[in-house]
Amino acid sequence: MHKPILIIGACGQIGTELTLELRSKYGAENVIASDIREGNEALMQSGPFELLDATNYAAIEDVVMHYEIDEVYLMAAMLSATAEKFPMRAWNLNMNSLFNVLNLAKEKKISKVFWPSSIAVFGPNTPKNDTPQSTIMEPSTVYGISKQSGERWCEYYHKKYGVDVRSVRYPGLISWKTMPGGGTTDYAVEIYHEALKKGEYECFLDSDTELPMMYMDDAIRATISLMDSPSEKIKVRSSYNLAGMNFTPKQMAESIAKHIPGFEISYTPDFRQEIADSWPSSIDDAPARKEWGWEPRFDLDQTTQEMLKNLKG
Ligand SMILES: NC(=O)c1ccc[n+]([C@@H]2O[C@H](COP(=O)([O-])OP(=O)(O)OC[C@H]3O[C@@H](n4cnc5c(N)ncnc54)[C@H](O)[C@@H]3O)[C@@H](O)[C@H]2O)c1
Repeated sequence: MHKPILIIGACGQIGTELTLELRSKYGAENVIASDIREGNEALMQSGPFELLDATNYAAIEDVVMHYEIDEVYLMAAMLSATAEKFPMRAWNLNMNSLFNVLNLAKEKKISKVFWPSSIAVFGPNTPKNDTPQSTIMEPSTVYGISKQSGERWCEYYHKKYGVDVRSVRYPGLISWKTMPGGGTTDYAVEIYHEALKKGEYECFLDSDTELPMMYMDDAIRATISLMDSPSEKIKVRSSYNLAGMNFTPKQMAESIAKHIPGFEISYTPDFRQEIADSWPSSIDDAPARKEWGWEPRFDLDQTTQEMLKNLKG
């Protein structure tokens, strides 16, 4: 039997699907969901839930002791677009929550940690195409600075204290079960909802803004596969590059138009354009493929098919 798992920030875009998948894999009672707010019905009905603030060390420790938690997935964070509006709140949440979980592992109260980083660790001086695992970073957003610092601390805790922390740099994630939480790639989810509702979409990024993206099923499979891998295979203890597909809003609109003839997209870039312009267009994820066997399954057209099928219900 798998030892108990705690997910912090379980009600968000990734946490919801991660919780449901871990519950079906390891048994509902072994996967404790937590967040500062309640989640959707599927999440709340499927197993144990605790209201928990990720910035409160004592409260997390209580839950860890009560359920004899062995692994923590820390999904609570403030995302890129929202973090530009509330820099200090973003920094406090993103860093303090990570220290809390890393320190629990350092104190041997838990034995394994998953913490997600992001393509936002890269910046305007990073090579844009096939961005390598190790390269110039220099992030220019509050969110990116917090993720890069987080990566450095993860590696530090692994080297100095032997903490078994694992991480991937998620690209923009596309899913239908929950809405995204304030990121720069949110357009790639909103567009499907609007295409079905109105047959048109006003995009907040320019037509040719190419970004790395991934369908949620691939992201969840990558996460669980990394956590299941034997420790000695995990050579990167900052965070692994992870690639799925790359496309522009224009290409996404063309993919949708194959199913919804006459679908129209217009472009009104806002402050998120500058964030997107500072990020890579495509990612080289060779170390993740080589070291723990990562391989994506969904391309843009398959994603479009899945999104439209599931959103239609
Ligand atoms: N979604 C993406 O495209 C994407 C891409 C790259 C990285 N990530 C990273 O993955 C992680 C999860 O992202 P997401 O898209 O699910 O985010 P989200 O915003 O959808 O969910 C975050 C959850 O954290 C919760 N939360 C906020 N403050 C909290 C606190 N103090 N205590 C406990 N919970 C709190 C929120 O209520 C929310 O349910 C984050 O670290 C994010 O940076 C996401």
